[in-house]
Amino acid sequence: MTKPRLWITRRLSDATLERAERDYDVVINHADTPGTADELIAASAEFDAIIPCHSEHFSADVVAQFSDRLKIVANHSVGVDHCDLPSLKARGIAITNTPDVLSDATAELAMLLMLGAARHAVAGDRIVRTGQWDSWSPAFMVGKQVTGARLGIIGMGRVGRAFAAKARGFDMEIHYYNRSELSASDAQGAVYHDSIESLLGIADFLSLHCPATPETTGLMNDARFALLPKGGIVVNTARGALVDESALLNALQSGHLAAAGLDCFQVEPGGNPAFAAHDNIFMLPHIGSATRTTRDAMGFRALDNLDAFFAGKTPGDLL
Ligand code: DGY
Repeated sequence: MTKPRLWITRRLSDATLERAERDYDVVINHADTPGTADELIAASAEFDAIIPCHSEHFSADVVAQFSDRLKIVANHSVGVDHCDLPSLKARGIAITNTPDVLSDATAELAMLLMLGAARHAVAGDRIVRTGQWDSWSPAFMVGKQVTGARLGIIGMGRVGRAFAAKARGFDMEIHYYNRSELSASDAQGAVYHDSIESLLGIADFLSLHCPATPETTGLMNDARFALLPKGGIVVNTARGALVDESALLNALQSGHLAAAGLDCFQVEPGGNPAFAAHDNIFMLPHIGSATRTTRDAMGFRALDNLDAFFAGKTPGDLL
């Protein structure tokens, strides 16, 4: 039987590429450059399937120019805000993502950002590294304690719940806002708030874990930052679109917020140059899911979805 033709747009894990080469007639972009609109359009005529990352943008305009050959876009990501889902579905193209497998890695990174933001990781690392650590005082680099503090989580899906589980290890009091209240077994004692405003009012620490959609774009704006308790700390490992970055900067510069930990930015790659001057913004370059274990699991999950599709079954993560 002829193997389906598959285009893998980026350098996925070795184990993923080996399995893809075994089971598909695959072309791998070893150069690892993000797929352009023209490349996606050309690929739609040459391949039955694409495994893209969030770096490839399937806009309505791009999808409108697709040929009829492409049958499935099996994303190597849980987020699908880079895909115009209605346009893809209207073309009869199946779309899948990779939920579950990156929840722990992303929650670990959220913990790193929360702790780093709370304890002056940026400035502390720099002064030691540059030989500027020349004194010590009880008043030196005093941060905010996580243990026992109230953590507000917006979006209590898989990643939000994984983060809550890790935060319980720090004896944090967990509160959340979600579109619907969780079952008692999923909530594990976390306190439900039926509005974002109510959650913000008590969140000493706030962590964002909801997808970027038209409804959540700019979710954290001037008015909402103002609702956080003074000295609050904001963590974002979800998507840059959730945060109005000027509003965040205003809240930090005014001293209303103490710090932020960010893995996601409105502009990626690159981030926001205006953040660079602020030691109380601990930043990482969108690496929430970047562990070896998780990269293999994401690649395998994308391939599982493809395998099911080409076996005539419904892929487990069909959107
Ligand atoms: C995801 O899976 O959505 C991560 O942000 C990496 O793309």
